[in-house]
Amino acid sequence: MHSSTDGVPPPMVVKDLSTPERELAIPVIIDSFTGIYRWHAKRTLQSVSRVRGAWWEGELVGVSMLELLDPAVGYVYYLAVRSAHRRHGVARRLLDDALELFRSSGARVVFAAAEEENTASLRLFESRGFRPTEPKEPGWREGGLGAWGFRSRMMVVSGELLLGLRLSPEPAGT
Ligand SMILES: CC(C)(COP(=O)(O)OP(=O)(O)OC[C@H]1O[C@@H](n2cnc3c(N)ncnc32)[C@H](O)[C@@H]1OP(=O)(O)O)[C@@H](O)C(=O)NCCC(=O)NCCS
Repeated sequence: MHSSTDGVPPPMVVKDLSTPERELAIPVIIDSFTGIYRWHAKRTLQSVSRVRGAWWEGELVGVSMLELLDPAVGYVYYLAVRSAHRRHGVARRLLDDALELFRSSGARVVFAAAEEENTASLRLFESRGFRPTEPKEPGWREGGLGAWGFRSRMMVVSGELLLGLRLSPEPAGT
């Protein structure tokens, strides 16, 4: 795989995985998660609205699982990259793709959860402007990043940080 630093963009294709194609993501999940996360990621793979796959030379090397929790609120359930293909910009490409999809569908905020210890994931999201949210901060409708009403659907568990990114301001007068 080309390095992301040699100036040559990797010849990668990012596209939707249809429902039958989602099975192809199982090895990516097994490679990326253990325990309860693996179980939940497999379950989410079948139930989530949108799964995007990053293909490189005919191989599915990474996936994202995306949901709109509200027309204005996007959620990245999972991002996962085959271990042999990490640190080549696959996740960043999937995240940029997700942000573009959410933005073009009208989302104003995007959330994602990451384990406090998951440096790779935290750095990835922070590199695109996400920041940790506070449970008590003003809600996203008030211009903050409080995820009022959504935390249970997001399945944020103890030991995880909820990260948020504002894509556009709340419309005036709402
Ligand atoms: C987190 C994960 C998706 C990153 O995938 P990746 O394709 O290797 O990430 P990228 O190459 O696009 O990296 C983008 C940025 O993320 C950060 N990053 C990625 N891996 C990192 C690591 N191991 N250590 C520190 N920072 C890391 C860096 O800021 C990196 O930018 P840089 O390469 O310019 O320094 C991958 O490690 C993975 O699948 N992990 C297991 C599943 C998981 O934890 N998913 C996230 C929570 S749902």
